[in-house]
Amino acid sequence: MSKDGSGGTGRRKFLQESAALGGAAALAGLVPSIALAQGARKIKIGLMLPYTGTYTQLGVAITNGFKLAIQEAGGKLSGREVEYATLDDESEPAKAADNANRIVNRDKVDVLVGTVHSGVQMGMVKIARESGVLHIIPNAGLGAATTQLCAPNIFRTSFANAQTTYPMGQVMAKKGHKTAVTLTWRYAAGEEMVAGFKDSFTKGGGKVIKELWLPFPNVEFQALLTEIASLKPDAVFVFFAGGGAAKFLKDYKAAGLKGKIPLYGSGFLTDGVLEAVGDAAEGVETTLHYGDGIDTPRNKAFRLSYAKAFKLQPDVYAVQGYDAALLLIAGMRAVKGDISKKREIIAAMEKAQIDSPRGKWTMSKGHNPVQDFYLRKVVGAENKVVGVAVKALDYPPAALCKMPS
Ligand code: BEZ
Repeated sequence: MSKDGSGGTGRRKFLQESAALGGAAALAGLVPSIALAQGARKIKIGLMLPYTGTYTQLGVAITNGFKLAIQEAGGKLSGREVEYATLDDESEPAKAADNANRIVNRDKVDVLVGTVHSGVQMGMVKIARESGVLHIIPNAGLGAATTQLCAPNIFRTSFANAQTTYPMGQVMAKKGHKTAVTLTWRYAAGEEMVAGFKDSFTKGGGKVIKELWLPFPNVEFQALLTEIASLKPDAVFVFFAGGGAAKFLKDYKAAGLKGKIPLYGSGFLTDGVLEAVGDAAEGVETTLHYGDGIDTPRNKAFRLSYAKAFKLQPDVYAVQGYDAALLLIAGMRAVKGDISKKREIIAAMEKAQIDSPRGKWTMSKGHNPVQDFYLRKVVGAENKVVGVAVKALDYPPAALCKMPS
C-alpha cells in the first residue's frame, strides 16, 4: 500500500503501465503495429449496476443512456468496437468489493462504470484505487469518492449527494420556512443528503426539529408519517429514490399530509416515478441538476432519441449514463482509441466540457461535475424547471481532494 493509501494506484500506476507498454514496444520497434493490434481489440465496458431491487429502474436507465450515447457515436469508441460485461450489484454493500473485484480482475474490463448506491460505491472505489482501472460513476453520490478518496482514475458524471440538497435548504429558507423535519434511509446517501440540506437551511435561519430515519430499503413509512403529523413542522424534507420514492409519495398523500405540510426533497424523489404515482407528486418542489422540461434543442433531441430507442421517457439517471459515455468518448477521442494511453485519456476527461441534456458542465479538481442546480416543480407528468436555484455549484468543495500523484 502506498503512502496515500491508494495501493500505488492513480497517476503513478498509469504511468508505470503506459511506460511498460511503450518501452517494450519501442525496443522491438513495434509502436505502430501495437497501435494497430489495439485497434483490433474490442473495448470492454463493465456495467456494475443494480438490476434487481429498489434501484432497478435507475440501473436500467443508466444502462440505456450509456448505450444510447455509444450508438449515437456510431456504436464505437474512436473506431474501436465496444462490448459489455454486466453485473447486478443488487444495491448490496456487503458484496460490493467482491463484485467489483470480479468484474475488474476476472472479466478484465477496460472501463468500470457504476454504480447507483453509495454503500456499494465505497467497495467499488476501493477496487478502482487498488487496480487503477478507469472508473466512471454514473450516479452514486458518495462524497468521499471525489474528495477524501479521490483518485486520477475515478470520475463522476452525476453529483455528490450533498450537492443536490444544499440548494434546497436555501430555497426553503428563502420561502420563509422556519422549522423542518427530515426523513430518509439511514445510509451514506441519506446522511449526506440531510447534511447538505441542513448546512444551507440553518445558514438561512431555519431549524431542523427532528431527523427521522429508516433502514435501506425499508418502505414502512406509516409510524414516521404519524410522528410528522404530530410534530407539525413548517415543511418536510426527504431523500428517497426509485421504488421507495414512489411508495413514499403515495403514502404521504394517503396519510393526509399532502396539502397540509409542504413536502420537499432532492429531485430523486420525483424523477422516474411520476407515471407510477398519479397525482400524489403534483406540486412537489425539488432541486436537481436535471429537469424533463429543460427547454433547449440539446435536451429535446436527447429526449426524442431516448424515447424512440427505448419506448420510455428518460430521467436524470438516463442523462447521467448518457454523460458517462460522452465523457469516455471525449477521453478516447484524444488518444484515437488507444486505451493504453491512460494518462492522456485522463487529461482529456479532466478538461472535457460535456454538452449534456442537463446543460454544459465541467469537471472539478476532484472529478465531480461543477453544474447548475434547478428548482423544479411537478406539473402533471413533468418535472418542470422553475428556475436555477444555484449556478455552477462545487460542493462539497473539490479542495477537499488531495489528488494522489
Ligand atoms: C446513492 O446511494 O448515492 C443514491 C441513490 C439513488 C439516488 C441518489 C443517490
